[in-house]
Amino acid sequence: MAQSPGNRSERLASWLESRAPLSGVVEFLRHKEVPWHKGTFFYLFGGVALLLFCVQVMTGILLMFYYVPAPEGAYESVLLISAKVPFGWLIRSIHSWSANLMILALFIHMFSVYFMRAYRPPRELVWVTGFVLLVLSMTFGFSGYLLPWTKLSYFATKIGTDVTKVIPVVGEGMRNFLLGASEISGPTLTRFFALHVAILPPIFTIFLGLHLLLIQLLGMSQPLGQQKARGIPFIPNFVLREGIVWVVVLGLLAVLSVYLPWEVGEKADPLASAPAGIRPEWFFTFMSQSLKYIPAKVMGMEGEALGVYAIGAGGLIFFLVPFWDRWSREGRRHWLVTAYGVAVIVFLATMTSLAYFKPY
Ligand code: HEM
Repeated sequence: MAQSPGNRSERLASWLESRAPLSGVVEFLRHKEVPWHKGTFFYLFGGVALLLFCVQVMTGILLMFYYVPAPEGAYESVLLISAKVPFGWLIRSIHSWSANLMILALFIHMFSVYFMRAYRPPRELVWVTGFVLLVLSMTFGFSGYLLPWTKLSYFATKIGTDVTKVIPVVGEGMRNFLLGASEISGPTLTRFFALHVAILPPIFTIFLGLHLLLIQLLGMSQPLGQQKARGIPFIPNFVLREGIVWVVVLGLLAVLSVYLPWEVGEKADPLASAPAGIRPEWFFTFMSQSLKYIPAKVMGMEGEALGVYAIGAGGLIFFLVPFWDRWSREGRRHWLVTAYGVAVIVFLATMTSLAYFKPY
């Protein structure tokens, strides 16, 4: 007797279910809701960071086919990618722009969850894993910057790695471990390459997996002071909204990559003196710029070391917010938490803009 199509699809579904019992996941997604309130738009930025991370992985793998991680060949291989390899310039441009957009999306995501107090119990670990992801993303940026072996990347990395010297006891050793030599040279490039393509990706993937898993298990936070906001279905309503934002972000990425292609610059010359106005990537300039305003000695202490400790302490207070903000646990907003968040934003924005518009 001929089987009806309905019968066949049911049998296929039951065959699949017995081998991959995923109906629980499908059921979960069918009933999942996202709280609908005036901050819902900001829930989209975590997804934007996720999209851009996927772009990074795909374009990074393609770049790896041609990149040579040695001082004798790194710059030349980047030139080859940019000038000879079909669409190489585009892939490199997308990789660089997407890295920067990802960090920007991460800052927006982090500050939006901060002001929504989304880190309050039971989401402390979502915040902690997220913060680690931000630090790892910035380390991705730092390690990737040296890879083209250009004048700018060489001296900016030198400034960045020299900062570790001010850390007492372990600073010097840390710097030597990172550099693989007393100065930036061949071993440094090999280590930065290993960090960028082999060490950071699996660590990042583990933390990303944890972050996303916890979000699924705990669900999205309810707005502060409200027991239960009205929800919208995750599928299709929220996913479609996220999809629209992804299309816009991909469009922006394409326009930036095509019309403002990432430049190659001049080859690094370790024997030359540092060119004027050298600065690290924009998301580190808050640190380099603020250190310039601190006198060499403050009350007998090394000014630079004091600045690094102060920035470290400020970052630590911010990182620990789920553990000291007791007010939001009781459903109240406290001015101190808001004021601290605003102070951090003002500090980061002022120092970053000063680095570009009024280099010291
Ligand atoms: C590549 C890095 C990251 C990715 C891909 C990512 C992804 C996501 C996604 C998809 C969500 C759910 C939707 C949303 O709220 O946007 C989320 C929620 C959250 N993220 Fe992240 N995130 C990252 C980094 C961070 C950082 C840097 C922080 C803060 C330090 C953070 C803290 C949180 C918190 C607390 C939530 C829960 C929000 C709520 O329940 O309302 N995440 N993240």
